[in-house]
Amino acid sequence: MRSPLLFSAAICISKILAYSPSSYYFDPLKHLAGVAPPFDPIDPPLDPSPPQGCNVTRAAYLVRHAAIVANDFDYESYIEPFVEKLENTTVDWAKVPVLSFLATWQNPITDEEQEMLTRSGKLEATKLGVDIAQRYQGLRTPKKIWTSTAERTVKSAKSFTQGLADDTDDMSVVEISEGEEEGADSLTPYKGCPAYSSKAGSNESSEFLDVYTKPVIGHFNSAAPAFNFTAKDVYAMSLLCGYETVIRGSSPFCNLEVLSPNEWLGFEYTNDIQYHYNTGYGNPTSGAIGFPWVNATLNSLMATQNNMSNATADQDLYISFTHRELPPTVLVALGLFNNSAFSGSNNVNYTMPVNAINHGRVWKSSNILQFLTNVAIEKMECESFGYDDGSYYRVLVNDSPQSLDGCSSGPGESCGEERMREWVAQRGGIVGEFGGVCGVEYGNSTNVLGIYES
Ligand SMILES: *[C@@H]1O[C@H](CO)[C@@H](O)[C@H](O)[C@H]1NC(C)=O
Ligand SMILES: *[C@@H]1O[C@H](CO)[C@@H](O)[C@H](O)[C@H]1NC(C)=O
Ligand SMILES: *[C@@H]1O[C@H](CO)[C@@H](O)[C@H](O)[C@H]1NC(C)=O
Ligand SMILES: *[C@@H]1O[C@H](CO)[C@@H](O)[C@H](O)[C@H]1NC(C)=O
Ligand SMILES: *[C@@H]1O[C@H](CO)[C@@H](O)[C@H](O)[C@H]1NC(C)=O
Ligand SMILES: *[C@@H]1O[C@H](CO)[C@@H](O)[C@H](O)[C@H]1NC(C)=O
Ligand SMILES: *[C@@H]1O[C@H](CO)[C@@H](O)[C@H](O)[C@H]1NC(C)=O
Ligand SMILES: *[C@@H]1O[C@H](CO)[C@@H](O)[C@H](O)[C@H]1NC(C)=O
Ligand SMILES: *[C@@H]1O[C@H](CO)[C@@H](O)[C@H](O)[C@H]1NC(C)=O
Ligand SMILES: *[C@@H]1O[C@H](CO)[C@@H](O)[C@H](O)[C@H]1NC(C)=O
Repeated sequence: MRSPLLFSAAICISKILAYSPSSYYFDPLKHLAGVAPPFDPIDPPLDPSPPQGCNVTRAAYLVRHAAIVANDFDYESYIEPFVEKLENTTVDWAKVPVLSFLATWQNPITDEEQEMLTRSGKLEATKLGVDIAQRYQGLRTPKKIWTSTAERTVKSAKSFTQGLADDTDDMSVVEISEGEEEGADSLTPYKGCPAYSSKAGSNESSEFLDVYTKPVIGHFNSAAPAFNFTAKDVYAMSLLCGYETVIRGSSPFCNLEVLSPNEWLGFEYTNDIQYHYNTGYGNPTSGAIGFPWVNATLNSLMATQNNMSNATADQDLYISFTHRELPPTVLVALGLFNNSAFSGSNNVNYTMPVNAINHGRVWKSSNILQFLTNVAIEKMECESFGYDDGSYYRVLVNDSPQSLDGCSSGPGESCGEERMREWVAQRGGIVGEFGGVCGVEYGNSTNVLGIYES
């Protein structure tokens, strides 16, 4: 018989082995929220290849622009003040362990280049074009793709065409105005939504910013008291890990001796709170802002060539480029990454406490709005075991198929066409109509996205 003492010793050893540092791996680049370089989060881990018996016959993509040098707001609010403080400081960084790199570090961001695509961003956008061309070999190359007018979105779209098209002259990049007077008829509908504020979420996220940065500030200020590190400085250092990586290929700020894995999770959660209240479930306008893209896109994928209005682009692929705000609102319109789903209640804000991390949340900005993040809808023709023959639809986010709540009884958790029509109409009812929810004030606003006809 095994002695109790040996038995508990064995448990002890197995615990030590299970939690040994060698099995722990942490990559900060996958926790950088809006400044994360593109990656496939595999969330959930459903198989991305078409389900057994199904062929993709059409697809649509909504893509955030690729990596930029720096966002204006991030630069002016956090990075620039930190960099100026560094220029003024009397601290001799060479003598400060862990932060000694600051003695020679140079700011990679110049004023003129801010908001521009980085070289790696252009390359990633081209690669996405190649990936899509390879994934949909049987589909026709589109004649048009659409983009909002900002330079970073237009350049992302153009870099993308280099990967997608044989000859980019055969494809036109249609620019859609970012004006607020377009209402829902643009790739930036939040700009035409008076009830949406770009500042939403900043108060809530700054509460958690203070929580997670407190020990970091204590640590850094004990090493370099004269610098007087603040919460904003720590946040700036995290942003620099992302921006410097997409500009230079790597950054000393990403070193896990500077900020630990737990501290990176704090940075990520601060952003998740921000986007929850800004473009997520914590903002009552989100779903209404994202719904017109869902509705128009499904209408185009469902239309047959006979009943497609002659103005609507007759294409197999409908691809559009936009800014970071739109993809998360589309996910809300689709009911995806809803922390409250399957909880039996709908207390959205309770799922994102501002004083502690909810590690069990599904709303993770790094997985949802990284650079070049994309939301896809695929139309499939299926003759699959155990299912009726016909058209089915599925949504993929950064290559991971998603299961739509109430619309997933087809092959590979896809949704049959008839059910899809009812389900989308139901979603429209849940999230509300753009004009009403947004409190649109001008007369000629519209609730419908018509870009596929331009
Ligand atoms: C840096 O020093 C200059 C000159 O003393 C001062 O005007 C500026 O406010 C300082 N900047 C920061 C960020 O401390
Ligand atoms: C509303 O009118 C303005 C000014 O004529 C125009 O620019 C805008 O495109 C119109 N909006 C819609 C949705 O047609
Ligand atoms: C943030 O809080 C301040 C002070 O309570 C308030 O005036 C402001 O409206 C809030 N901002 C947002 C975007 O909620
Ligand atoms: C440190 O920074 C904080 C926040 O900016 C400021 O209120 C405080 O006066 C500074 N302390 C010193 C010693 O400079
Ligand atoms: C969640 O919080 C936001 C911002 O404070 C608020 O506008 C919204 O109504 C809240 N949602 C619920 C369901 O309480
Ligand atoms: C969905 O799109 C169709 C076709 O453009 C339009 O008639 C309908 O009003 C839209 N539904 C909603 C809820 O916006
Ligand atoms: C197009 O035709 C199909 C099949 O005839 C029909 O089910 C569908 O409702 C039509 N769609 C539109 C947008 O008219
Ligand atoms: C498209 O144009 C053709 C010929 O120009 C016409 O016969 C057909 O009815 C039009 N279809 C629609 C949906 O308007
Ligand atoms: C999120 O999930 C809850 C619980 O299922 C549901 O009541 C709510 O409508 C969902 N929110 C949205 C915007 O779909
Ligand atoms: C899918 O494509 C293959 C190859 O073209 C074809 O043999 C098969 O019949 C198609 N299946 C469906 C359901 O359309």
